[in-house]
Amino acid sequence: MRFDVLTIFPSVFPGPLGVGVVGRALASGAVHLHVHDLREHSGNRHRQVDDMQFGGGAGMVLKPEPIAHAIRALRAEIPGVRTILLSPQGRVFTQDVARELVGEPALLLVCGRYQGVDERAREEIGDELSVGDYVLSGGEVAAMTVIEATARLVPGVVGSPESLVEETFSSTTAGGLEPPLYTRPAAFEGREVPAVLRSGDHAAIAAWRRQQSDEQTRRRRPDLVRLRAIPGGNE
Ligand SMILES: C[S@@+](CC[C@H](N)C(=O)[O-])C[C@H]1O[C@@H](n2cnc3c(N)ncnc32)[C@H](O)[C@@H]1O
Repeated sequence: MRFDVLTIFPSVFPGPLGVGVVGRALASGAVHLHVHDLREHSGNRHRQVDDMQFGGGAGMVLKPEPIAHAIRALRAEIPGVRTILLSPQGRVFTQDVARELVGEPALLLVCGRYQGVDERAREEIGDELSVGDYVLSGGEVAAMTVIEATARLVPGVVGSPESLVEETFSSTTAGGLEPPLYTRPAAFEGREVPAVLRSGDHAAIAAWRRQQSDEQTRRRRPDLVRLRAIPGGNE
């Protein structure tokens, strides 16, 4: 799968995407990352891509021409690419959205900055994703989040595919939270690993994990329990 990012700060990539499973996928070519400097499309010798707001107001706005020129050029170069603006006003990015995006051959993620992006550039991009209900100062960290969560779903990127179906928001947890995890030592400062996990009884372990997953989800994320009750509610 191919990811392209359009940003005024190309040097921050790959950042954390360069390590761990996604870093290995980038190194092996299972996933491709291309980062493009928006200023290369400024069309002026000062490489300026922002301007003041019409109507007044604090903060500069990213101009429409550099974004439109850049995404038209990239759309012509990358067949079937889906273009998405990172924006606090977009659809909230969830695990279900990551599963939807991994079906795409290529994603072009556009990072806003300053006060945001000219409305005509937003229209040209068409699609928007938010990483949550808070405001970041730029789309780069949000783009990394989308890439990290999506790239690890590309077949072969995570070494043991079972771990993708046995984690939080997966089918085994019915879209809820993962049960507690333990490793050695069996006793740590007086706190013991639950005996069932050391019993070797696979059916009992599976039943304990299901029950713990349900309990953790009810206690920590009751909103997910409500979603699970609605057919297709986690989508
Ligand atoms: C300071 S923010 C602009 C916020 C905008 N003035 C507003 O009130 O909606 C600058 C850029 O950061 C990115 N950004 C901020 N919060 C985000 C979020 N929750 N999800 C995705 N991108 C975000 C967007 O690309 C945005 O254009």
